[in-house]
Amino acid sequence: MVSIAINKGHQNIAMLGIGAYRPRRIVSNDEVCETLDSTDEWIYDRSGIRNRRWVSGDESLRSMAVAAGERAIKNSGVDRSKIGALILASSTWPDITPHGGPTVAHDLGINGIPAFDLVSGCGGFGYGLAVAADLLRSGSADYVLLIGAETMSFSLDPHDRGTAFIFGDGAGAVVIGPSQENGISPAVWGSDGENASAIGQNFNILEMMDRAESYQGKDPETDPVGRMLLRMEGPRVFRWAAVTLPRALASALDVAGVSKDDIEVFVPHQANARINELMKKNLGLADDIPMANDIENTGNTSAASIPLAIEEMLVTGKAKGGQLALLLAFGAGLSYAGQVAVLPPAPTEASF
Ligand code: UT7
Repeated sequence: MVSIAINKGHQNIAMLGIGAYRPRRIVSNDEVCETLDSTDEWIYDRSGIRNRRWVSGDESLRSMAVAAGERAIKNSGVDRSKIGALILASSTWPDITPHGGPTVAHDLGINGIPAFDLVSGCGGFGYGLAVAADLLRSGSADYVLLIGAETMSFSLDPHDRGTAFIFGDGAGAVVIGPSQENGISPAVWGSDGENASAIGQNFNILEMMDRAESYQGKDPETDPVGRMLLRMEGPRVFRWAAVTLPRALASALDVAGVSKDDIEVFVPHQANARINELMKKNLGLADDIPMANDIENTGNTSAASIPLAIEEMLVTGKAKGGQLALLLAFGAGLSYAGQVAVLPPAPTEASF
């Protein structure tokens, strides 16, 4: 029997650079409430959101992903020719086929590398970080560009009290590569399909296929198949989060071999400031540990929220490159992924 060669990967890896893109248009709670039956006070009190950003003009998921990726590459100082794989974490790339990774890689001048999409709802960045880390550790790539990018605004029903005020658009990216000391722990990740229906579109893919069939021979201009609108049973997700996420956070510390006292920064997914305050308290993190609160002015940007939140903390000085952070992504699926990671250096080219 011939012996088949195996890759030799890098065990010590880290986020070497970060980049982000925030859409130009800032949408206040008051503007959302021009259509939605709600108030600025209710929205801020229940979610911690004051503003979100929505794409406008020539901005698109593609342009945001490329801008964030470009900045992450520049800020990392890594020559783009060394990037061996691109992961696009997104649930809102407009086409199922073709998926977005190859197009984004082409736009970034790294055409030809393995490039693929990773769909895991708001858990997308955590899942992407886990997959990227494993690609590096197995030797499948020396450097990976991970981009989380979303245009959530396209699938919002402006009258839906459960979603219209929550979601925003944006993109964040990191370059991950070898480092002297290890900067990314093993992931603690999982899913709960029993609660899958808590976040989803208003019709599923099988219904879509049924509709597509029934639309055969019809003019799409006069018989549109319709938009896929996002629905969320917020209180159900909240209850699931309260039980599942504290366990995930404790396990993440455990597998990383660090204690909660070692954690210098807490970066949970920006779904709801109240959930995050509760998690921080329940985990017993000290009051003065900085916690990401990018949701206040960026909204919930799903798979983009963690890199956007890290970038905001680094640019404003709330956190510093090299600090030890606890990351936790969670959302549709339902799914979650947590890691302990060393923050990348503050970006020289920032998104604001
Ligand atoms: O990113 C993916 C992961 N997602 C999450 O983690 C989301 C988790 N869930 C949440 O963030 C929260 O459930 C929401 C912010 C979505 C909603 O907050 P809530 O505190 O759970 O509100 P609720 O749905 O339990 O509603 C409470 C009250 C109800 O009135 P009554 O029955 O107490 O009189 C609702 O009718 O608030 C009312 N309400 C609203 N009022 C004004 C519900 N939505 C609205 C609204 N504006 N938009």
